[in-house]
Amino acid sequence: MKKLSARRRHPLAAVVVLLLALACTGGLYVLLAPTSEAKADTTAQSLAIDEGKKLYAVGCASCHGTGGQGTTDGPSLVGVGAAAVDFQVGTGRMPAQQPGAQVPKKRNIYSQAEIDQLAAFISSLGAGPNVPTEAQYNPEGADIAKGGELFRTNCAQCHNFTGKGGALTHGKFAPDLEGVSPKHIYEAMQTGPQNMPSFPDTTLSEQNKQDIIAYLDAVNGDDTESPGGLELGGLGPVSEGLFAWIFGLGGLIAVAVWVAARTAKAKKS
Ligand code: HEC
Ligand code: HEC
Repeated sequence: MKKLSARRRHPLAAVVVLLLALACTGGLYVLLAPTSEAKADTTAQSLAIDEGKKLYAVGCASCHGTGGQGTTDGPSLVGVGAAAVDFQVGTGRMPAQQPGAQVPKKRNIYSQAEIDQLAAFISSLGAGPNVPTEAQYNPEGADIAKGGELFRTNCAQCHNFTGKGGALTHGKFAPDLEGVSPKHIYEAMQTGPQNMPSFPDTTLSEQNKQDIIAYLDAVNGDDTESPGGLELGGLGPVSEGLFAWIFGLGGLIAVAVWVAARTAKAKKS
């Protein structure tokens, strides 16, 4: 007993107690910090959903219904996911102005922060594909040749061989893909807007999507020339074949006519 009280009064005792107290607070902080951070995350998320809900009520509810259930003027948005919202609003398709065969692209009227809020609200109605991260859609280092192959098998029937676009039935069209941002190309594949099929990761892996983006980047970039010489509008084998027929065969016929005319003249004289 005597020993203990003696030790308690030791000049270093206060320091030891202080160190112990600091270690305890540190430990407690480590234990509690992640949960408080997570809490901050969820409050930020619910704030974004609240803001998105307000924007939605003003700009979108008239066609898509107050709870996103859809009306006769617009489809249900339950489960379309943040990627669909980011694509549709980011490319200026939404909010649509008037009904028609296909909602055209316009100047986007929302800031990216507002689009994120709209996306947060709509994905809170039902889970769907998320907006891709830059690491997912950045085509740097992807395989352009492989991308070209994938594009010709999956996309060219509608968008043409070099992505120049083309008409579909009933006044619809597959747009020219030049100048579309990598993020929007990725989202179009994820969500399949309008008549376009969607290409989830099970059909086209993340790597495949990057390869396609790299291919489009290569054929549409200003610094690359048309592979194989004259571009001929990039309209594909039919028109390019026609070009060969008209100018190639036409040239041959002209030569034949000229030769025949000369031999006829030679015979006469
Ligand atoms: C004038 C009516 C109208 C308004 C307003 C409108 N939309 Fe749409 N929305 C449509 C129609 C119609 C479609 C179907 C598009 C198509 O088939 O071309 C559509 C499609 C969509 C899609 C794609 C759904 C899918 O299945 O991939 C999303 C996402 C969307 N709208 C979000 C919005 C958001 C967000 C707003 C508000 C900023 C909005 N829309 C405002 C009519 C509207
Ligand atoms: C069945 C025809 C069809 C196929 C196949 C198809 N698309 Fe589309 N695509 C469309 C249509 C139609 C639209 C326009 C949708 C709209 O305006 O709402 C479109 C839109 C797009 C857009 C948006 C362009 C813009 O201007 O914002 C991109 C990017 C795109 N497609 C890429 C692809 C890629 C990549 C593939 C292949 C993996 C592909 N598409 C396959 C029909 C198709």
